[in-house]
Amino acid sequence: MKKIVLTGDRPTGKLHLGHYVGSLQSRIKIQDKKDYKQFVMIADAQALTDNYDNPEKVRKHVLEVALDYLAAGLDPKKTTIFIQSAVPQLAELDLFFLNLVTVGQLKRNPTVKNEMKEKGFELNVPAGFLTYPVSQAADITAFKATEIPVGEDQLPILEQVNDIVRKFNSIYGKGRNILKVCKPLLSSTTRLPGIDGKAKASKSLNNGIYLADSDEEIKRKVMAMYTDPGHIKVDDPGQVKGNVVFTYLDAFDPNKKEIEKLKAQYKKGGLGDVAIKKRLIDVLINLTKPMRERREKLARDPKKVMKILEQGSAEAKKVAAQTMAEVKKAMTINYF
Ligand code: TRP
Repeated sequence: MKKIVLTGDRPTGKLHLGHYVGSLQSRIKIQDKKDYKQFVMIADAQALTDNYDNPEKVRKHVLEVALDYLAAGLDPKKTTIFIQSAVPQLAELDLFFLNLVTVGQLKRNPTVKNEMKEKGFELNVPAGFLTYPVSQAADITAFKATEIPVGEDQLPILEQVNDIVRKFNSIYGKGRNILKVCKPLLSSTTRLPGIDGKAKASKSLNNGIYLADSDEEIKRKVMAMYTDPGHIKVDDPGQVKGNVVFTYLDAFDPNKKEIEKLKAQYKKGGLGDVAIKKRLIDVLINLTKPMRERREKLARDPKKVMKILEQGSAEAKKVAAQTMAEVKKAMTINYF
């Protein structure tokens, strides 16, 4: 039996380097493992929970995210890439799961709570947004996925998912595990900060480096990166901790030994910011250039990309329909 992996991204912006180290990279590795079957979902329905008034934005980014996936190396022959709303069984499953959580539980969920604050939803949160962890439980369980490559911020969501699974199995399963509990696959890299040193690269702060950024944009962003405000002259001793250039070098420079040497030199004094920034620019351009070239080529034929999503969605629908049949049977609502 293959292990089933599922992840998704909300199509609200292009993917950035944080997505790359956080999960894209591991998805690309997983698709080549014989004992894994991987689904990757473009979570348009989830994106609409806080962008319901801007469907054009979501629509546009479905294609952008698909381009990022394919450019980064996700292969539709190995990974089923699909669109959430094109698999109606997910909405159906969500409906039944909604009975298995309380509003209080959702309001207390740390991830939801945080996002509600960020988005200014404290008083008037759309019900769809508040309940997105339930819909995420449907995304995961419909495919019987047990391994979920996500960032740390998603851990409370996965706990909520497993809570629903256990409740479902105990009420409707009569001792059988109809649905499967899942576990996170955390990436070894800690979360990538924004170029300004803020904890998270985010679309609204525009402080991330996108996979699709040009060489010029990469140069500009790296040159603007937060380093150590106390490191004024080259000879001054500098701080490595909290220094965004070193955090990115740690995440992307393949030569770990040299980075350790550079860090030691920087701490002692005698290594300038421009030198380490130049090194990072080279590393990042090396990484993203081939992706960008693939992306530009793919972007010339959006119909072909949409066809890939259509085929992936058809495949996904078959799997989800099978689970849905088992769910309905367990719930004794398989009438005909
Ligand atoms: N909530 C995830 C995010 O914001 C996206 C997502 C939707 C997801 N459904 C999922 C992730 C299922 C993992 C599994 O990034």
